[in-house]
Amino acid sequence: MMFSPYGITGKTKRITKADTYKTAELISAVFYKITGRETGGIMEKTLKFKDGKFRILQLSDMQDTYNTSPDTVRFTEEAIKITKPDFIVLTGDQIKGYGLSFLKGDNKTNAAKAINALMAPIGESGIPFTAVFGNHDAFGEAQKDFQWKCYKCFDNFIGNDYETAVFPVYSENEENVPFCVYTFDYDAGENKANGISKYGKITEKQINKYRNYRDILSEKYGHTVKALAFQHVPPAEMYDCLKEVKKGTKNSVQGAGIHKNQYYTLPDYAVKKGSFMGENPASPDEKSGQLEAFEEKNDVMGLYFGHDHNNSFIVKWNNIDLGYTQGCGFNVYGPGHLRGGRVFDIYESEPDKYKTFTVTYKDILGARTKRPVKTFMYTHSPSSVSAVEAQCKKIAKAAAVCAVPVAAAYILKKLK
Ligand SMILES: [Fe+2]
Repeated sequence: MMFSPYGITGKTKRITKADTYKTAELISAVFYKITGRETGGIMEKTLKFKDGKFRILQLSDMQDTYNTSPDTVRFTEEAIKITKPDFIVLTGDQIKGYGLSFLKGDNKTNAAKAINALMAPIGESGIPFTAVFGNHDAFGEAQKDFQWKCYKCFDNFIGNDYETAVFPVYSENEENVPFCVYTFDYDAGENKANGISKYGKITEKQINKYRNYRDILSEKYGHTVKALAFQHVPPAEMYDCLKEVKKGTKNSVQGAGIHKNQYYTLPDYAVKKGSFMGENPASPDEKSGQLEAFEEKNDVMGLYFGHDHNNSFIVKWNNIDLGYTQGCGFNVYGPGHLRGGRVFDIYESEPDKYKTFTVTYKDILGARTKRPVKTFMYTHSPSSVSAVEAQCKKIAKAAAVCAVPVAAAYILKKLK
């Protein structure tokens, strides 16, 4: 049975603001006592290879309120059933902190209700899961510490530190750790004032925490532990990996931040079945040094993220894969029925190789959603303020083009 600040997961029960805090904190405290999961940095043996294989399901950008889209919940439920992962990683923007329903009532209660509703299918699956925050999770009073407590109320939630965490995946005999997962939280506060971009880079402190975990693991197990890393926002290096093209090139997107005057397409090698780049990467402008840190021991094979819901592709930065996973939320902009998640398969005998593919709503549930009008609206809504500006410019241009013959006809009529 799993608990949430709202009682049994999946049930809705009217409770007071005080109940929310008390229940969340009490259950968290009991949970620690029973499971002893706070182990000072390195997780206990929760994750293990089974029959030589370990499967991760990444879901990103559910971005919803407590008025949760039934399509998001249904997709989550079915994606878990079909892919049967051993571990689920949520890469941020689970909560739409700016949502209108957050304006009504208590912000913390609303956030707890949203987490409860969105996590219900994951909680019910019993599969270990973890989460990082995105740029839209922590709005108002319901800051990260509070939301983290809400996640921890699910007894299959694992994670000791949302800033930077490590999840060792043990061999079947538990004697070795052939592979691990690192998660990095999104941080805006520390960086926001420094750069041109409004998106914060990964901090030095987070990178040093990763180095520390990496070194502890390699010392304990006598080898470099291969890894995949997850976070919300793509790194600044994303733009180094795209192909710069002329404005107007087919399938190109206009850059963002310091790249706003350039246009890009995917490099040829990244154009594959199921890959798409529907919007500009909204990355920080400044490089963090995270990728160089990954190169020090050549342990992290790929860094995966979400944030830009209409992107799903993998490019290479030196030997490291940089991969987008499209959004899976239906109450926010996204790539229509191609909303989806990403699966990773890692093999105990060859942890230095992994396979990845995406699963979409269309693959699993077909072309019909429960709320087709909303799906249509959110599929065609702009992804950002710059996209709104671009759409307004297009409309203005179209209006100007239409106005010319009308004006000409009017003038000719007057001249007659
Ligand atoms: Fe998002």
